[in-house]
Amino acid sequence: MQDRTVAIGVDHGGLSLKAEIIDHLEEAGLVVLDLGTHDSQSVDYPDYAYAVADAIGRKRADLGVVICGTGIGMSIALNRFRWIRAALCHDVTTSRLAREHNDANVLVLGARLIASELAKECLTVFLQTEFGAGRHAARVRKLNEPPVLDDASHAA
Ligand code: RB5
Repeated sequence: MQDRTVAIGVDHGGLSLKAEIIDHLEEAGLVVLDLGTHDSQSVDYPDYAYAVADAIGRKRADLGVVICGTGIGMSIALNRFRWIRAALCHDVTTSRLAREHNDANVLVLGARLIASELAKECLTVFLQTEFGAGRHAARVRKLNEPPVLDDASHAA
């Protein structure tokens, strides 16, 4: 786990978990890149999701942790980028499988839906689990090769 940098981004809905998650990351020996938000003022979750996507895309961070109220908005925003595989996790099993099967590089948490102790357990498992590769590798590669579906018969 040493020397890896984790970018963290939260909106006001995720702020309550941020400090504990940062402490947990630092105790695990990781470098934290804190991309906000920094106070309880209402903000737009896509802005923080995009900041984390940018940091990972530019290799300023190896992994991301993002938190909003439910985790749903952050997930939708992050997964628009081909180098991101963001997984909304509610328990240690989803956290483990997100790494083993999906090679997830961003852990998404919903601060209004998960207790802080469980959130930290999810984070520990996420950081400690390796990608399983094997049969999963081709499936993950396919995520970067979506079919062209963008024609007049599809929604705008
Ligand atoms: C903010 O109120 C809330 O909508 C946001 O944190 C998140 O849950 C969106 O998906």
